[in-house]
Amino acid sequence: MKRFAIALAAMLAMAFGWPALADEPIVIKFSHVVSPDAPKGKAALLFKDLAEKYTTGRVKVEVYPNSSLYKDKEELEALQLGSVQILAPSIAKFSPLGVKEFDVFDLPFLMSDDTHARQMMASPMMAELNKKLEAKGVLPLAYWDNGAHVYTANRALISPDDFRGMKMRIQGGKVQDAVARELGALPQIIAFGELYQALQTGVVDGEDNVPSNILTQKFYEVQKHLTVSYHSRLTYGLITNKTFWNSLPEDVRTQLDRAVKETTTFFNETAAKDNADALDKIKASGKTEFHLLSDAAKKAWIAKLMPVHTEMQSRFGKDFLERIYKASGFTPPQS
Ligand code: LMR
Repeated sequence: MKRFAIALAAMLAMAFGWPALADEPIVIKFSHVVSPDAPKGKAALLFKDLAEKYTTGRVKVEVYPNSSLYKDKEELEALQLGSVQILAPSIAKFSPLGVKEFDVFDLPFLMSDDTHARQMMASPMMAELNKKLEAKGVLPLAYWDNGAHVYTANRALISPDDFRGMKMRIQGGKVQDAVARELGALPQIIAFGELYQALQTGVVDGEDNVPSNILTQKFYEVQKHLTVSYHSRLTYGLITNKTFWNSLPEDVRTQLDRAVKETTTFFNETAAKDNADALDKIKASGKTEFHLLSDAAKKAWIAKLMPVHTEMQSRFGKDFLERIYKASGFTPPQS
């Protein structure tokens, strides 16, 4: 009976050009750049388990961690071309998609704590931004907040002046570039998968990241100092190719949506704890000297970096910035 069904499906496929035999699973390639032990790596594996379970094997998810399939910029191109179906890049890397608005989230101290970040991601403004991605063929399924960035470097970064002349790795985007320049540093875009080597060989002197990445990529082994600055945020956009997603059978899509929802809850419950644990482990390794910012030092950083907000008014528009401030609950300090 089963053989008959397969033969019939094959005949129909030939006659009507249907894409696959009924029994063949739909393959979803999920590519990402971090370790399987980092919050995003764990979430990708959970999504695989849930998606395959809820669709009773009609979907097969292949997870490619650690830039093993694509590096930063390539993965976005591959998604638009349909060569990969799911990614979860930092939203700071979205500008090559032709959508510049996501760079706004790199403005210094905009979302300095979990409450402001969650408020922003839950705000109706995100729907507006999602439409811009959809116009580029990219459908956002969820946002995952991986917490605040700290700086690592081979020099102690305590006062803004300490950045002068330092070659600092940035993920990309005009705001990250402006932040580094405002600090007197020399920004350099380097793909995440090439960062360990760049730090080890001195191509760059430092970078900023979340503790779970600094631990799982072993950046702390090649960086002498870590400053708990919490100056900006690492948010991921879980994104898919819009044409692919909309072509899925509706019942499959419903089950995948359920897997996305549960994975998002897992991510939000896991990331903060993983980052706190990672800080402890890096400290315990004794390889990196830790620096906390005093209130006065923090004030000096904020004073130094607020001009980037002003400078970026011309890029984003004053109105847009004010709406972002309101949505995130951010109040620019009075100078
Ligand atoms: C980075 O490039 O530093 C991060 O975006 C890596 C990641 O995806 O966590």
